[in-house]
Amino acid sequence: MNQNLSAVPIRPSEITPKDVYFSRRDFIKTAGVAAGSLALASCAPQALPDSPASENPPATDAGFTDELGDPATPYNDITNYNNFYEFSTDKEAVAPLSAGFTTSPWTVEVYGLVNKPKTYGMEDLLAKFTQEERVYRLRCVEAWSMVIPWTGFTLASLLKEVEPTSDAKYVRFETVHRPDEMKGQNSPFYVWPYQEGLRLDEALNDLTLLATGLYGEPMPKQDGAPIRLVVPWKYGFKSIKSIVKIELVREQPNTLWNTAAPNEYGFYSNVNPDVPHPRWSQATERRIGEFNRRPTLPFNGYAEQVASLYQGMDLKANY
Ligand code: MTE
Repeated sequence: MNQNLSAVPIRPSEITPKDVYFSRRDFIKTAGVAAGSLALASCAPQALPDSPASENPPATDAGFTDELGDPATPYNDITNYNNFYEFSTDKEAVAPLSAGFTTSPWTVEVYGLVNKPKTYGMEDLLAKFTQEERVYRLRCVEAWSMVIPWTGFTLASLLKEVEPTSDAKYVRFETVHRPDEMKGQNSPFYVWPYQEGLRLDEALNDLTLLATGLYGEPMPKQDGAPIRLVVPWKYGFKSIKSIVKIELVREQPNTLWNTAAPNEYGFYSNVNPDVPHPRWSQATERRIGEFNRRPTLPFNGYAEQVASLYQGMDLKANY
């Protein structure tokens, strides 16, 4: 499995543990992972060679827990059971098929309705924005879930720097388009490249992360190296991988899933046990590694932080 990892030998420039996301005790338990990150915290990023394999991938949950006390899903499961249609629709085939994906050099263009458009190299992003560790639940629309310890920085910190204009109402994200490397992009069933979108206030919410790693390791290719979105209160498909473009726009953007099947996948896609998918219930979920199903929580358990964003909206109509 090691050879499937994109290991960028840079640690986040700074780790800011947040008690609200997990406890310091958990950090200490992750000594081999997080302490390694801290030890390198002062190193300025040098270069980003592509895909040397991780020598020591974390074996177990490494002591990470989310704020509900749920342990992190084992690293092995997070990196071998993936949705990444650019490589395959078979979740277990994504890791081997993404092994040769080129993730360096990499740039992210931030543009559109902003005062200061800018194209960032990955090195700039890692050096410039405060990296945090956050353990989030990821609830897939297919009714399985994982708990993932991400490393990343808030999308808000990046957006503040480019200064959205008052006309900007939504943020549109785009995955790299490279059909030679990503054979799934030759499939006629979807409109490529993968696109996603958030309303600007959702994008600015403190939970919304641009993730550059997990388990204290650089982002594995199969999980969206080198940089992906994580929006923990929405179904997993909103969390777009391998981002190269972030555009501030006036109108609600089209998304790959909303275009492919509008009656099944809405723009908002907030986790909602009361709104079934047309073909299955969303009331319960199976945590990867567990046998019994558990009830799905409204907004995936993050209602306190985000329910106010949707006050007055009919969340059954706006699914
Ligand atoms: N991003 C891109 N570019 N392509 C995809 O196919 N799948 C989405 C999302 N982001 C997907 C994507 C779906 S359906 C889910 S559930 C999550 O990624 C899965 O993330 P993971 O493989 O890291 O668990």
